[in-house]
Amino acid sequence: MANVHILIAYASKFGCTAKCARVLKEKLKEAEVTVVDLSNGHPDNLAKYDAIVVGGPVYAGKLLAPVQKFCEENEDTLGAKRLALFLCCGDGGRYEAYLNDCFGQRLREHAVACEHFGYEYHMEKMGFIFRTVVRLVARVKHSESHILESNIARLAGKLL
Ligand SMILES: Cc1cc2nc3c(=O)[nH]c(=O)nc-3n(C[C@H](O)[C@H](O)[C@H](O)COP(=O)(O)O)c2cc1C
Repeated sequence: MANVHILIAYASKFGCTAKCARVLKEKLKEAEVTVVDLSNGHPDNLAKYDAIVVGGPVYAGKLLAPVQKFCEENEDTLGAKRLALFLCCGDGGRYEAYLNDCFGQRLREHAVACEHFGYEYHMEKMGFIFRTVVRLVARVKHSESHILESNIARLAGKLL
């Protein structure tokens, strides 16, 4: 498996998705894995990867902008690759609907695996407005971490 090269492309506002990307990399030990934060620019030459994982967090029902842009600009390439998708979102009940809204039906149906990796709220990292939104909408008062390791492991298993 060492000659299998996997790209994990993600973006993260407060670190949850970044943490999930690192955990996923650990679970893909048998492969060569490159992790790219799309906030710092897009990776070049997607052709060199055997598989691509794209993941991002949901804010106000939308995929974080750098991930959305990456999917839109590379839809044809991603639609022809071995592909896996993941979301971090606080509302697990809307995860299925978010998958289609965020990645589009084409990529969703093409993906060999789609998973909800859980969510975190880092109240100490948020400004006043975000903290207030989270308190009022999600009814969360303190920082919380609910990363779903078993879902991360399941996605890794389907990819290898
Ligand atoms: C201001 C704000 C808005 C959010 N909006 C949504 C939302 O619409 N739906 C949802 O399921 N989760 C929502 N979340 C939860 C995030 O998706 C969750 O905190 C995620 O783990 C953030 O990942 P990140 O730290 O990688 O940015 C929101 C969180 C914040 C702080």
